[in-house]
Amino acid sequence: MTAEITTLEHPIDAMFLIHKALRGEANRTVEQAKCLETGCSLQPFKLAFTAWATAIMYHAEKEVGAGMSESMDRSRCKTAHDPIERVKWALLEKEDEEYSRLLEGVMDVMTVLETDIGATSVITRTKQHLYGQVLALRVAQDDHLETEEAMILPLLRDNLTPENQMKVVGALLIDNEADDRLWVINWMSQDLTPGENELLKALESRIHQAHSMV
Ligand SMILES: [Fe+2]
Repeated sequence: MTAEITTLEHPIDAMFLIHKALRGEANRTVEQAKCLETGCSLQPFKLAFTAWATAIMYHAEKEVGAGMSESMDRSRCKTAHDPIERVKWALLEKEDEEYSRLLEGVMDVMTVLETDIGATSVITRTKQHLYGQVLALRVAQDDHLETEEAMILPLLRDNLTPENQMKVVGALLIDNEADDRLWVINWMSQDLTPGENELLKALESRIHQAHSMV
């Protein structure tokens, strides 16, 4: 989804804003990888890739780890006789698998960066290799975000209370373990329209309010 997001009807819809920023970062990294082949320096590519990889890894950790899928009560889904519950479980398993593939793609690029590239030069074959890997990673991310938007988000809207959706979104947007707790929100803002940034700011204050009431 690249169209302007004008409302967050459910708190979990903030995911569309995060995904928009992930897609923006992917596009910048692909552009820099393409530029490497025509003689651009490695540094801008490394910066773009590092920002993208950091965002993917944080998003995956919060969705697969203690965040989104945990709040769906997987154990109940897995053992349920109800076919709908079993479908939910299958979808969550698919989400985990797709994330594993995405993270493998990130590691592949990191390995090339660390092992195949000397301090001063990048050989043509390595540039082509990097471009291919980064393109593949963008395709994997696109597939994954589309599945999540079409299949997982409707499940979460139906199964999580607004309060629980706020908890999930809070974990995705605010990194309580970082020195800069707002780095995700600040990172996202570059790919959002002014209106979307307003929505994000309003959501951030709701998250802080919910926190202060606990
Ligand atoms: Fe997501």
